[in-house]
Amino acid sequence: MRLKSIRELPLRGKKLFLRLDFNVPLSAPDAEGIRKVEDDTRIREALPTIRFAREQGAKVIIASHLGRPKGLRNDDFSLLPAADRLAELLGTEVTLMDDCIGEGVELKAAGLQNGDVMVLENLRFHKEEEENDLGFAQKLARLCDVYVTDAFGTAHREHASTHRLPSIMPDRGMGFLIEKEVKYFDGILGNPAAPFHLILGGAKVSDKIKTISALMKHVNGVVIGGAMAYAFMKARGETIPAEWKQPAPEDVEAARHLLAEAEKKHIPFLLPLDTNLGFDIGPRTIEEYIRFLATAKTVFWNGPLGWFEKAPYDRGTREVAVALADQACVKVVGGGDTVSAVTQAGLAEKFDHLSTGGGAALEYLETGTLPGIEILRAPYRPTSPDLV
Ligand code: 3PG
Repeated sequence: MRLKSIRELPLRGKKLFLRLDFNVPLSAPDAEGIRKVEDDTRIREALPTIRFAREQGAKVIIASHLGRPKGLRNDDFSLLPAADRLAELLGTEVTLMDDCIGEGVELKAAGLQNGDVMVLENLRFHKEEEENDLGFAQKLARLCDVYVTDAFGTAHREHASTHRLPSIMPDRGMGFLIEKEVKYFDGILGNPAAPFHLILGGAKVSDKIKTISALMKHVNGVVIGGAMAYAFMKARGETIPAEWKQPAPEDVEAARHLLAEAEKKHIPFLLPLDTNLGFDIGPRTIEEYIRFLATAKTVFWNGPLGWFEKAPYDRGTREVAVALADQACVKVVGGGDTVSAVTQAGLAEKFDHLSTGGGAALEYLETGTLPGIEILRAPYRPTSPDLV
């Protein structure tokens, strides 16, 4: 079945279940116990879909998880800060429910007017969410007439709100954010303009090995930074100075495997020539990487090249980002830290796409789809109401 866009769904006067990813970083509580959203990118990226739904006269019921409360109610994981931030961004009242299922919530949902916005409390306060439980999905289904997901960052999870619920809703589709994410990632996997260079950083290679391996089919060059570089250096037989964090054996093994693959395919694989005390790539490496990347027509970047939160170890990440910013090529960034680094450098506008997905972006690049997107294509499976 074809993936439907929110544009094709009946919305006027309908109760719309909108699954978003409002799993955003929060500040520590202030003196009054109030937490604030520290990075509202995921909320802002959902605005086009929310605005469209309201303009079309939907009654908007937003659902999300936040953090990992392990199936228990815990106010530290309340969606209140996200709902407040959404109200500010929309300039409208947003009601936060005290739960995501139950008679009280159903009554409130039934009383919504066209264009109203309600946010359900954290789905993960119920363990059934992560268990992809049918009964829980049916309780969510009682709140709504139409299902739309724009939770790209969570679409790699087979949970009740991302997987079971859409399977039992006849009217379902995706929002504008998923559409945008898919467009850029399909571009990378389909026919990327060559040369296509991959920039990889962050700590662990073993977590990303499947994605990197899958991308080896498409790339023409790889540059490596961050702590993961040491795994590759060790795999090449270099000695890692004792005062640096030593790579884990599984990371060295993963690195060895990837280096062998690159060699077989004659893909240049650049490792740091020097470092800044082991916390960042050094000046010679920065120069070399910028020179190498200058020929790229497509770049995908995942993972900072050094300890970018701590100056001066942000230099490598920042200088590479600055150099790429003005380069005429398709630039896609995935992963929360790398997106933050590019945003903090004030360069967000100069990149084609900053993905809201971390794990989801990597899994999409590995498999070319995600369970939370595939389920929108699957046949509708009505279930008996007496199962509820
Ligand atoms: C994320 O931030 O990657 C998503 O919201 C998924 O969160 P999870 O890893 O806790 O499932």
